[in-house]
Amino acid sequence: MEAPKLVIDHLNKNFNVDGKSVNILNDINLNINEGEFVAIVGHSGCGKSTLLKIIAGLLDYDDGNVTLDSRRISKPDIDRGMVFQEHRLFPWLTIKENLAIGLDKLDNKNKEEIISEHLKLVKLEGFENVYPHQLSGGMSQRAAIARALVNAPKVLLLDEPFGALDALTKIMLQEEILKIWEKEKTTMIMVTHDIEEAVYLADRIVVMSARPGKIKEVVKVDLGRVRDRGSADFAKIKKRILSHFFEDKSPTLEYTI
Ligand SMILES: Nc1ncnc2c1ncn2[C@@H]1O[C@H](COP(=O)(O)OP(=O)(O)O)[C@@H](O)[C@H]1O
Ligand SMILES: [Mg+2]
Repeated sequence: MEAPKLVIDHLNKNFNVDGKSVNILNDINLNINEGEFVAIVGHSGCGKSTLLKIIAGLLDYDDGNVTLDSRRISKPDIDRGMVFQEHRLFPWLTIKENLAIGLDKLDNKNKEEIISEHLKLVKLEGFENVYPHQLSGGMSQRAAIARALVNAPKVLLLDEPFGALDALTKIMLQEEILKIWEKEKTTMIMVTHDIEEAVYLADRIVVMSARPGKIKEVVKVDLGRVRDRGSADFAKIKKRILSHFFEDKSPTLEYTI
């Protein structure tokens, strides 16, 4: 088996709330291999975004160690890209200019090449010179994904990236992200509240408990690709994940799937 590249070892994170230290992430241990697609699910407020921000280097932590390729993560760097639920593109810049931001050090010819390659990857050729407000929600998220990928990060962190999209656009973007993952071989870590999305996309699904956020189970999704959302095996994994959120009411699960 390949050695894990991202290692989260006994991670603890506290936040100060009203002058008191509150434990948000509790003893998180997780190894993620290069090129793996990992989904994280859990109740709102359990610390999913906090965990992604720590991996991104945007937040410090109290105990434990988080390393990428054996180097402790302590600040943001180009080996990690991040995409949020809202696209966070700069409204006063064109799509091309938004993508160019992270490519400051390159000469113009290289910049142009990388930008057009990535706009092609997310199917936004021809939209170089438009502004974010001229794009649909799905297109904006595509642009945000392209912007996160221009520096060829090893790890792409996705925080509910399709959470605000309509159902059909979401399904299309799920297909897109799988194609990108297969082509670029980027390690993907996606927070989602959509359990079907997690089962459709991920190699493994990390189920977190509510406060303090702990890992309850890591479910391996042993289904081939492309996955059949209507298959019995798919439903079985969905049901297993759901069971963590309805532990006291499991009989109703028969009707929810
Ligand atoms: N900067 C902060 N200061 C204090 N508390 C915070 C801060 N950021 C997040 N929290 C709290 O930490 C918990 C986890 O937040 P978050 O990681 O955003 O949850 P999730 O993404 O799982 O919904 C929440 O209770 C939230 O209110
Ligand atoms: Mg969140």
